[in-house]
Amino acid sequence: MKIISSISDLRDQLRGQNRIAFVPTMGNLHEGHMSLMRLAKRHGDPVVASIFVNRLQFGPNEDFEKYPRTMERDIAMLEKEGVYVLFAPTEKDLYPEPQEFRMSPPTDLGDILEGEFRPGFFKGVSTVVTKLFNCTQPRVAVFGKKDYQQLMIIRRMVEQFAMPIDIIPADTIRDADGLAMSSRNGYLSPEQRAEAPTLYAELNKIKAALNQGEMSLEHLAQLEQDCKRVLLERGWQPDYISIRKQHNLLPPAQDALEAQAPLVVLAAAKLGATRLIDNLEI
Ligand code: PAF
Repeated sequence: MKIISSISDLRDQLRGQNRIAFVPTMGNLHEGHMSLMRLAKRHGDPVVASIFVNRLQFGPNEDFEKYPRTMERDIAMLEKEGVYVLFAPTEKDLYPEPQEFRMSPPTDLGDILEGEFRPGFFKGVSTVVTKLFNCTQPRVAVFGKKDYQQLMIIRRMVEQFAMPIDIIPADTIRDADGLAMSSRNGYLSPEQRAEAPTLYAELNKIKAALNQGEMSLEHLAQLEQDCKRVLLERGWQPDYISIRKQHNLLPPAQDALEAQAPLVVLAAAKLGATRLIDNLEI
Protein backbone atom coordinates (compact mmCIF):
# COMPACT_ATOMS: atom_id res chain seq x y z
CA MET A 1 0.00 0.00 0.00
CA LYS A 2 1.27 3.44 -0.90
CA ILE A 3 0.97 6.00 1.89
CA ILE A 4 0.72 9.49 0.48
CA SER A 5 0.34 12.82 2.21
CA SER A 6 0.61 15.45 -0.50
CA ILE A 7 -2.16 16.24 -2.97
CA SER A 8 0.26 16.38 -5.92
CA ASP A 9 1.78 12.96 -5.08
CA LEU A 10 -1.72 11.52 -4.81
CA ARG A 11 -2.61 12.91 -8.25
CA ASP A 12 0.61 11.43 -9.72
CA GLN A 13 -0.10 8.04 -8.17
CA LEU A 14 -3.73 7.90 -9.35
CA ARG A 15 -3.26 9.34 -12.85
CA GLY A 16 -5.10 7.25 -15.47
CA GLN A 17 -7.28 5.40 -12.94
CA ASN A 18 -10.94 5.87 -13.76
CA ARG A 19 -12.69 3.36 -11.49
CA ILE A 20 -11.39 4.49 -8.11
CA ALA A 21 -13.47 3.46 -5.08
CA PHE A 22 -12.89 5.86 -2.22
CA VAL A 23 -13.48 5.48 1.52
CA PRO A 24 -12.89 8.65 3.57
CA THR A 25 -12.27 8.12 7.30
CA MET A 26 -10.89 9.90 10.33
CA GLY A 27 -8.84 6.84 11.30
CA ASN A 28 -8.89 4.78 14.50
CA LEU A 29 -10.22 2.08 12.23
CA HIS A 30 -12.41 -0.78 13.38
CA GLU A 31 -14.36 -3.62 11.78
CA GLY A 32 -17.04 -1.14 10.63
CA HIS A 33 -14.47 0.69 8.51
CA MET A 34 -13.14 -2.60 7.16
CA SER A 35 -16.62 -3.47 5.93
CA LEU A 36 -16.60 -0.16 4.02
CA MET A 37 -13.28 -1.14 2.39
CA ARG A 38 -14.71 -4.52 1.37
CA LEU A 39 -17.79 -2.89 -0.10
CA ALA A 40 -15.58 -0.41 -1.96
CA LYS A 41 -13.66 -3.32 -3.47
CA ARG A 42 -16.90 -4.68 -4.92
CA HIS A 43 -17.69 -1.38 -6.62
CA GLY A 44 -14.38 -0.21 -8.03
CA ASP A 45 -10.66 -0.68 -8.39
CA PRO A 46 -8.30 0.47 -6.95
CA VAL A 47 -9.54 1.20 -3.44
CA VAL A 48 -8.26 4.45 -1.97
CA ALA A 49 -8.81 5.25 1.72
CA SER A 50 -8.13 8.50 3.49
CA ILE A 51 -7.37 9.25 7.12
CA PHE A 52 -7.75 12.86 8.16
CA VAL A 53 -9.12 14.21 11.43
CA ASN A 54 -10.90 17.23 10.04
CA ARG A 55 -10.76 20.19 12.39
CA LEU A 56 -13.49 21.99 10.42
CA GLN A 57 -16.18 19.57 11.58
CA PHE A 58 -15.44 19.81 15.31
CA GLY A 59 -17.06 22.44 17.53
CA PRO A 60 -14.91 24.47 19.95
CA ASN A 61 -15.85 22.24 22.92
CA GLU A 62 -15.68 18.93 21.06
CA ASP A 63 -13.05 16.21 21.03
CA PHE A 64 -10.76 17.29 18.14
CA GLU A 65 -7.60 17.22 20.28
CA LYS A 66 -8.35 13.94 22.01
CA TYR A 67 -9.84 12.16 18.95
CA PRO A 68 -7.94 8.83 18.86
CA ARG A 69 -5.07 8.78 16.35
CA THR A 70 -3.76 5.25 15.77
CA MET A 71 -1.97 5.52 12.43
CA GLU A 72 0.34 2.49 12.69
CA ARG A 73 -2.48 0.14 13.58
CA ASP A 74 -4.72 1.66 10.90
CA ILE A 75 -2.03 1.17 8.23
CA ALA A 76 -1.67 -2.52 9.15
CA MET A 77 -5.44 -3.02 8.90
CA LEU A 78 -5.70 -1.29 5.51
CA GLU A 79 -2.74 -3.24 4.15
CA LYS A 80 -4.38 -6.49 5.19
CA GLU A 81 -7.55 -5.45 3.37
CA GLY A 82 -5.66 -4.83 0.10
CA VAL A 83 -6.18 -1.07 -0.04
CA TYR A 84 -4.03 0.41 -2.83
CA VAL A 85 -3.43 3.92 -1.55
CA LEU A 86 -3.85 5.55 1.84
CA PHE A 87 -4.14 9.30 1.54
CA ALA A 88 -3.15 10.68 4.93
CA PRO A 89 -2.59 14.41 4.52
CA THR A 90 -1.42 16.67 7.32
CA GLU A 91 -3.46 19.80 8.01
CA LYS A 92 -0.86 21.77 6.04
CA ASP A 93 -1.27 19.43 3.07
CA LEU A 94 -5.05 19.67 2.95
CA TYR A 95 -5.49 23.23 4.22
CA PRO A 96 -2.25 25.02 3.21
CA GLU A 97 -4.11 28.27 3.76
CA PRO A 98 -7.27 28.87 5.80
CA GLN A 99 -10.18 27.14 4.05
CA GLU A 100 -12.27 30.23 3.39
CA PHE A 101 -14.60 28.73 0.78
CA ARG A 102 -17.00 26.30 2.48
CA MET A 103 -19.78 24.01 1.36
CA SER A 104 -23.06 24.93 2.98
CA PRO A 105 -25.79 22.28 3.18
CA PRO A 106 -29.41 23.51 3.01
CA THR A 107 -30.67 24.37 6.49
CA ASP A 108 -33.67 22.01 6.30
CA LEU A 109 -31.21 19.13 6.18
CA GLY A 110 -28.00 20.52 7.65
CA ASP A 111 -29.35 22.31 10.72
CA ILE A 112 -31.65 19.60 12.08
CA LEU A 113 -30.84 16.60 14.32
CA GLU A 114 -27.01 16.40 14.40
CA GLY A 115 -26.79 19.86 12.83
CA GLU A 116 -28.87 21.37 15.63
CA PHE A 117 -26.65 19.92 18.36
CA ARG A 118 -23.36 20.30 16.46
CA PRO A 119 -23.62 23.67 14.69
CA GLY A 120 -21.35 23.85 11.64
CA PHE A 121 -20.71 20.10 11.68
CA PHE A 122 -22.14 19.38 8.23
CA LYS A 123 -20.48 22.44 6.72
CA GLY A 124 -17.18 21.01 7.91
CA VAL A 125 -18.01 17.51 6.68
CA SER A 126 -19.23 18.55 3.25
CA THR A 127 -16.30 20.92 2.77
CA VAL A 128 -13.67 18.28 3.54
CA VAL A 129 -15.48 15.57 1.57
CA THR A 130 -15.63 17.87 -1.48
CA LYS A 131 -11.94 18.57 -1.15
CA LEU A 132 -11.10 14.88 -0.69
CA PHE A 133 -13.24 14.05 -3.73
CA ASN A 134 -11.34 16.67 -5.76
CA CYS A 135 -8.01 15.21 -4.64
CA THR A 136 -8.97 11.59 -5.27
CA GLN A 137 -11.43 11.89 -8.18
CA PRO A 138 -13.22 8.64 -7.38
CA ARG A 139 -15.88 6.93 -9.46
CA VAL A 140 -17.64 5.68 -6.31
CA ALA A 141 -17.39 6.56 -2.63
CA VAL A 142 -18.64 4.54 0.35
CA PHE A 143 -20.32 6.04 3.43
CA GLY A 144 -21.77 4.18 6.42
CA LYS A 145 -25.46 4.34 7.33
CA LYS A 146 -24.43 4.73 10.96
CA ASP A 147 -24.00 8.43 10.06
CA TYR A 148 -27.39 8.49 8.38
CA GLN A 149 -27.74 12.25 8.03
CA GLN A 150 -24.16 12.62 6.81
CA LEU A 151 -24.82 10.02 4.11
CA MET A 152 -27.95 11.88 3.00
CA ILE A 153 -26.18 15.24 2.89
CA ILE A 154 -23.30 13.86 0.85
CA ARG A 155 -25.75 12.23 -1.55
CA ARG A 156 -27.64 15.48 -2.07
CA MET A 157 -24.45 17.47 -2.44
CA VAL A 158 -23.16 15.10 -5.10
CA GLU A 159 -26.49 15.29 -6.94
CA GLN A 160 -26.85 19.06 -6.78
CA PHE A 161 -23.28 19.73 -7.89
CA ALA A 162 -23.41 16.99 -10.56
CA MET A 163 -20.29 15.39 -9.12
CA PRO A 164 -19.63 12.27 -11.21
CA ILE A 165 -19.49 9.96 -8.19
CA ASP A 166 -21.82 7.17 -7.09
CA ILE A 167 -22.39 7.20 -3.35
CA ILE A 168 -22.64 3.67 -1.96
CA PRO A 169 -24.35 3.25 1.44
CA ALA A 170 -22.94 0.63 3.81
CA ASP A 171 -24.91 -1.08 6.57
CA THR A 172 -23.98 -0.38 10.17
CA ILE A 173 -21.71 -2.97 11.74
CA ARG A 174 -22.50 -3.82 15.35
CA ASP A 175 -20.83 -5.62 18.21
CA ALA A 176 -22.55 -8.85 19.25
CA ASP A 177 -24.61 -6.97 21.87
CA GLY A 178 -25.95 -4.52 19.28
CA LEU A 179 -23.73 -1.48 19.93
CA ALA A 180 -22.92 0.22 16.63
CA MET A 181 -19.16 0.27 16.06
CA SER A 182 -17.67 3.72 16.46
CA SER A 183 -14.26 5.16 17.23
CA ARG A 184 -15.85 7.02 20.14
CA ASN A 185 -16.82 3.72 21.83
CA GLY A 186 -13.21 3.64 22.99
CA TYR A 187 -13.97 6.54 25.36
CA LEU A 188 -16.47 4.41 27.34
CA SER A 189 -15.58 3.00 30.77
CA PRO A 190 -16.34 -0.74 31.26
CA GLU A 191 -19.60 0.16 33.05
CA GLN A 192 -20.62 2.58 30.30
CA ARG A 193 -19.70 0.01 27.64
CA ALA A 194 -22.03 -2.47 29.34
CA GLU A 195 -24.84 0.12 29.31
CA ALA A 196 -24.23 1.42 25.76
CA PRO A 197 -26.27 -1.26 23.85
CA THR A 198 -29.41 0.12 25.54
CA LEU A 199 -29.60 2.82 22.87
CA TYR A 200 -30.00 0.33 20.04
CA ALA A 201 -32.28 -1.87 22.16
CA GLU A 202 -34.59 1.14 22.68
CA LEU A 203 -34.63 1.92 18.95
CA ASN A 204 -35.64 -1.68 18.33
CA LYS A 205 -38.52 -1.27 20.80
CA ILE A 206 -39.76 1.72 18.80
CA LYS A 207 -39.50 -0.24 15.57
CA ALA A 208 -41.37 -3.20 17.06
CA ALA A 209 -44.13 -0.91 18.38
CA LEU A 210 -44.56 0.77 15.00
CA ASN A 211 -44.59 -2.54 13.18
CA GLN A 212 -47.54 -3.58 15.35
CA GLY A 213 -49.61 -1.20 13.31
CA GLU A 214 -50.73 1.92 15.20
CA MET A 215 -49.56 4.85 13.10
CA SER A 216 -50.62 8.20 14.50
CA LEU A 217 -48.61 11.30 15.27
CA GLU A 218 -49.57 10.96 18.94
CA HIS A 219 -48.27 7.40 19.04
CA LEU A 220 -44.95 8.44 17.44
CA ALA A 221 -44.52 11.28 19.95
CA GLN A 222 -45.33 8.89 22.81
CA LEU A 223 -42.74 6.38 21.63
CA GLU A 224 -40.08 9.09 21.36
CA GLN A 225 -40.92 10.34 24.85
CA ASP A 226 -40.91 6.85 26.38
CA CYS A 227 -37.50 6.18 24.87
CA LYS A 228 -36.12 9.48 26.22
CA ARG A 229 -37.53 8.72 29.68
CA VAL A 230 -35.96 5.25 29.78
CA LEU A 231 -32.59 6.65 28.75
CA LEU A 232 -32.77 9.46 31.32
CA GLU A 233 -33.70 6.98 34.05
CA ARG A 234 -30.65 4.89 33.13
CA GLY A 235 -28.32 7.88 33.39
CA TRP A 236 -28.11 8.98 29.75
CA GLN A 237 -28.52 12.57 28.54
CA PRO A 238 -30.48 12.28 25.28
CA ASP A 239 -30.06 15.06 22.68
CA TYR A 240 -32.79 13.71 20.41
CA ILE A 241 -34.80 10.58 19.71
CA SER A 242 -36.75 11.32 16.58
CA ILE A 243 -38.83 9.39 14.07
CA ARG A 244 -38.39 10.91 10.62
CA LYS A 245 -39.14 10.25 6.98
CA GLN A 246 -36.29 8.35 5.38
CA HIS A 247 -36.22 10.41 2.21
CA ASN A 248 -35.72 13.90 3.71
CA LEU A 249 -35.36 13.38 7.48
CA LEU A 250 -38.30 15.69 8.21
CA PRO A 251 -40.95 14.69 10.76
CA PRO A 252 -43.81 12.84 9.06
CA ALA A 253 -47.25 14.45 8.87
CA GLN A 254 -50.38 12.30 9.25
CA ASP A 255 -50.75 11.92 5.44
CA ALA A 256 -47.19 10.52 5.21
CA LEU A 257 -48.07 7.97 7.90
CA GLU A 258 -51.23 7.00 6.05
CA ALA A 259 -49.25 6.63 2.80
CA GLN A 260 -46.81 4.41 4.73
CA ALA A 261 -43.82 6.58 3.90
CA PRO A 262 -40.62 4.76 4.96
CA LEU A 263 -39.47 6.00 8.36
CA VAL A 264 -36.24 5.97 10.32
CA VAL A 265 -35.68 6.59 14.00
CA LEU A 266 -32.53 8.56 14.79
CA ALA A 267 -30.97 9.05 18.19
CA ALA A 268 -28.11 10.88 19.86
CA ALA A 269 -27.43 10.66 23.57
CA LYS A 270 -24.55 11.16 25.95
CA LEU A 271 -23.35 8.50 28.32
CA GLY A 272 -21.06 10.36 30.71
CA ALA A 273 -18.93 12.54 28.45
CA THR A 274 -19.30 10.29 25.41
CA ARG A 275 -21.90 11.15 22.79
CA LEU A 276 -23.23 8.17 20.84
CA ILE A 277 -25.48 8.24 17.77
CA ASP A 278 -27.47 5.46 16.17
CA ASN A 279 -30.46 4.94 13.91
CA LEU A 280 -32.79 2.25 12.68
CA GLU A 281 -34.88 2.13 9.52
CA ILE A 282 -38.46 1.11 10.15
O1 PAF B 1 -17.59 9.96 8.87
C1 PAF B 1 -16.42 10.39 9.03
O2 PAF B 1 -15.51 9.71 9.48
C2 PAF B 1 -16.12 11.83 8.64
O3 PAF B 1 -17.22 12.67 8.89
C3 PAF B 1 -15.63 11.98 7.18
C4 PAF B 1 -16.70 11.57 6.20
C5 PAF B 1 -14.37 11.14 6.97
C6 PAF B 1 -15.28 13.45 6.90
O4 PAF B 1 -14.29 13.91 7.76
